[in-house]
Amino acid sequence: MNVSDAVKARRTIRGYLPDPIPDDVIHEIFEIARHAPSNSNTQPWHFAVVSGNARDRLQAAIFDEINAGTKPYPTFPSGGVGLHGIYKERRRACGFGYYATMGIDRQDMAARNRLLLKNWEFFGAPHVGFLSMPETMHRANAVDLGIFLQTVMLLMTERGISSCPQGALGSYPGPVKAIADIPEGNAILCGLSFGYADEGAQINEVRMSREPLDTIASFTS
Ligand SMILES: Cc1cc2nc3c(=O)[nH]c(=O)nc-3n(C[C@H](O)[C@H](O)[C@H](O)COP(=O)(O)O)c2cc1C
Repeated sequence: MNVSDAVKARRTIRGYLPDPIPDDVIHEIFEIARHAPSNSNTQPWHFAVVSGNARDRLQAAIFDEINAGTKPYPTFPSGGVGLHGIYKERRRACGFGYYATMGIDRQDMAARNRLLLKNWEFFGAPHVGFLSMPETMHRANAVDLGIFLQTVMLLMTERGISSCPQGALGSYPGPVKAIADIPEGNAILCGLSFGYADEGAQINEVRMSREPLDTIASFTS
């Protein structure tokens, strides 16, 4: 699989088999991903992988907060903040496409909420990772984390491993910091659930479109 194939083959997967990925494969992915570029070579990323018993304890601890009525308290503003115009429309289309695939009526808020909650079940994936950077850093440094995240996802695609990037996993940092090994002073930008796809799962039938080339790039000479 070359890079072009991996970019086109990767898509967000939200239904997983329980089988864990061998440790050496996970380590190899991050060993290669650390070659990603960053502004002034600052390498501000940190990726904390949580698996096995710790993964189950983390899910339970997050649901303790959700069930207690705790509202999301991300350190960095979520990606939904400040959206307007075409970006707001695309976000709505993304949600409605997702609900349609799952047979959920867009007015059915209870069903929509049940789907939302799957974020903190890590969609059944056996592994979840948290991407963090120093809390004092801001937008320009988030670019570096985005590059790192896509590098990780493509390396996973190359190895037949599926993933779901999740801004939602920055919503309840308390339990994450208590259980995952997040460096002191870092804040979570997003998470990544990953594992082997459950190919038969309905939730994996979601397909997202893309804008045509002339709307996302311009070429002047
Ligand atoms: C930074 C980032 C945050 C995301 N957050 C979530 C999330 O919280 N929950 C979720 O189900 N999908 C999330 N997604 C997945 C996007 O919805 C998905 O990438 C987009 O719809 C395009 O679909 P594709 O990845 O299948 O091409 C996120 C993706 C990115 C890159």
